[in-house]
Amino acid sequence: QEIPKALIIIFGATGDLAKRKLFPSIHRLYQNGKIGEDFAVVGIGRRSWSNDLFRSNVRNSLGDDVTEKESEAFISHFYYHPFDVSDSASYKSLGTLLNDLESDYHTEGNRIFYLAMAPQFFGTIANNLKKHNLKSDSGWSRLVIEKPFGHDYDSARKLNDQITSAFDESQIYRIDHYLGKEMVQNIEVIRFANGIFEHLWNNRFISNVQITSSEALGVEDRANYYDVSGATRDMVQNHMLQMVTLLAMEPPINLNPEEIRSEKIKILRAIRAVDEDNIDNYFVRGQYGPGKMFGKKLRGYQEEAEELKNSDTETYVAGKIMIDNYRWAGVPFYIRTGKRLEKKCTKIVVEFQDIPLNLYQEKRRGKSPNLLVINIQPNEGVTLFLNAKKPGMGSFAEPIKLSYTHEAVNSVNTPEAYEKLLHDCMVGDTTNFSHWDEVSLSWRFVDRILKKWSKEEPDFPNYAAGTMGPQEADDLLEKDGFHWWPTNNEDD
Ligand code: BG6
Repeated sequence: QEIPKALIIIFGATGDLAKRKLFPSIHRLYQNGKIGEDFAVVGIGRRSWSNDLFRSNVRNSLGDDVTEKESEAFISHFYYHPFDVSDSASYKSLGTLLNDLESDYHTEGNRIFYLAMAPQFFGTIANNLKKHNLKSDSGWSRLVIEKPFGHDYDSARKLNDQITSAFDESQIYRIDHYLGKEMVQNIEVIRFANGIFEHLWNNRFISNVQITSSEALGVEDRANYYDVSGATRDMVQNHMLQMVTLLAMEPPINLNPEEIRSEKIKILRAIRAVDEDNIDNYFVRGQYGPGKMFGKKLRGYQEEAEELKNSDTETYVAGKIMIDNYRWAGVPFYIRTGKRLEKKCTKIVVEFQDIPLNLYQEKRRGKSPNLLVINIQPNEGVTLFLNAKKPGMGSFAEPIKLSYTHEAVNSVNTPEAYEKLLHDCMVGDTTNFSHWDEVSLSWRFVDRILKKWSKEEPDFPNYAAGTMGPQEADDLLEKDGFHWWPTNNEDD
């Protein structure tokens, strides 16, 4: 594959995302030869930093295992430009800098504008970039944006209108970092490259699907953002629904981004829009109260910060998603995600229907249907639970597991989510970014739930920090005759 050449302009370069994810990812691309010497990064921020100060910040973000010599070469590609997003002069001087760097680094007019900052500036920046001719005439220009992309459908639509008046949809790369995860990308391959799964991948053989994304951390220092967002906007509108679509979509006719996207969109369109009166039968919200983890006492959400007192924001959500199409009619896709749960873990359990008659079942043992478990994180791999003869006398069956650990794990070559997404953006591959059609359908879906919840005061807190969430989430499955499969990483 051709080595991409581009200027990467990062708005919000003094912020947390740039430091934690973007600089290390660009460095890894550099280290692994995915980008050569023909690139430069322009960091943009309000502070009046010098190039040197910026470069030393970039160097610090790389960790200790990078040699001085190597980091010198890398950080020499970084430039800082102090900026005021609403001041014309800032855009003009940025234009001059970009033109100069373009000739120094032979980037052929290719520009990535990465907006790693609060979304209220997205529209202003995008429009000013166009107005001041910072979108390149000679190469390509791409706009990368981070969530939150709106607060509900209406605000997302407004934001999108602002951005699309300056950039075409094909130039907009909306990050959903779950789509950059190795095992999320693997869902498609596991499904469509294996005859034994795909033929059974429907409502005749699968009884339910469970997607858990649990976090041990609490709200941390993001109270301002999180309290207006909550778990549904923060995780369901984007990451959880993306995983649902990948699990449920039809095989695409080829691997072009448009074909894959069109299959995913069909799933979003087929998701049942539950009536307001019925939402409680499908969705459960929760908020953590005080609790314990590893013997350590933990505060409840409302005690984490002054402004969270009496908050009715959900830190947990569980739900049942029904996909009303030919393949999935009748099969619940259960999702759950939350903060301050027992452990950090994202996994998918596909539960196959039980056999009609089990002659080998020991009385004391419950049913043990076949499960396909896709471990997204922290372990990456796949486990298939089968039943086999218990060794010894008798002919009882017991569950056994066939496990695969994704080989790339812990290897220095495993690309991180941001690394892959940045590279995709540089080579113009939009597959693992969210298209507006996906974003808008997802907002419409969560809006219904949030609208209903906004009318009723919740009884919070309703789960203790360090547990797996409220009882109602267990009841949700029990009503259907199922239960959540454990998320013990040791068990798979
Ligand atoms: C982010 C959310 O999108 O995803 C965070 O804003 C959450 O609240 C994070 O912690 C989880 O991502 P990961 O990759 O750690 O599972």
